[in-house]
Amino acid sequence: MSHLVADAAFTKLLPKIELHAHLTGSISVSTLHDIWQERKKKGDDLSLEDPVLALPPEKVYYNVFTSANFFPLFDGYIYELCSSIDAIRFATQQVLRDFEQDGVRYLELRTTPRENVTNPFSKEDYVSTILDCIREFGRERMSTYLILSIDRRNSVAQAMETVELAIKYKDRGVVGVDLCGNPTKGNVGIFRPVFEKAQSSGLKITLHFAEVPESSTTQELQTLLSYQPDRLGHVINVPDDIKEDIARRGIGLELCLSCNVHAKLTPGGFAGHHFGYWKDKGCPISLCTDDVGIFRSSVSNEYRLAAEHFNFDRGDLAV
Ligand code: IMP
Ligand code: ZN
Repeated sequence: MSHLVADAAFTKLLPKIELHAHLTGSISVSTLHDIWQERKKKGDDLSLEDPVLALPPEKVYYNVFTSANFFPLFDGYIYELCSSIDAIRFATQQVLRDFEQDGVRYLELRTTPRENVTNPFSKEDYVSTILDCIREFGRERMSTYLILSIDRRNSVAQAMETVELAIKYKDRGVVGVDLCGNPTKGNVGIFRPVFEKAQSSGLKITLHFAEVPESSTTQELQTLLSYQPDRLGHVINVPDDIKEDIARRGIGLELCLSCNVHAKLTPGGFAGHHFGYWKDKGCPISLCTDDVGIFRSSVSNEYRLAAEHFNFDRGDLAV
């Protein structure tokens, strides 16, 4: 098998793991369009634009992307579109099907518990609905687990509520907690008791780490590492001494090539991506999509890109 080119057909067939995928960011435009159309048909008073127009083709979208207009896409658009338990159930089923069709065999999906007052549902209803979808889809088809995300803008009380939900639903497949959200917002130092509680309750911890320069001060990075994370996402703007600490601890890294390149979080395109730095430092690495609905690059395409830009053949990818 060695020295054969790892083309798209090969990487699609390869059984894959996805460890960093935000549920809402993983909903395809076509699924969002179906939800929009269904609501129009039902006569909902819907002022939202058709997702096909609101989320233009990737080439156009990449050129307008900044963290100022990326994060409001969730709060100000997709959450409003998917604002009923039925829509959340449908979207989750489609996301699971999309990952399965791309050849993912082990998935850790993550999501921020949310609630709604108009079509009333609680954060617990939200989490329980997603876990129902995962069970109904069948873990024998695709082994799927859930990580609950804490948004950087959360108060300690809100973050603690997320950890309590994660603890309550551990036996239904919640395996960890994440810290995510707009990296230019919030003070990560307030979450110490929250991550201590998660860890002492047997939950794993993954953190978005050094995504943009504003969230990469030595103080922030040292605070995050003091939470004893099992995995880190992105790890882009990391000073050398902290890189050495991460390598020494052998922390798992979730690296997202297309997301980082298209969102211009890293200079130098694919070939200059820090995957090249980390690939032989001894940390376990997982190639991840982050938000496939937005960046439109599947897990199998991420493997293909890694092969193309970092010289892996089929044998390398299959180990
Ligand atoms: P959800 O948690 O399933 O609703 O997925 C959407 C949420 O994931 C957003 O509101 C963000 O908080 C988070 N998210 C998605 N992409 C990123 C990213 O690139 N960096 C940090 N957070 C992100
Ligand atoms: Zn992410």
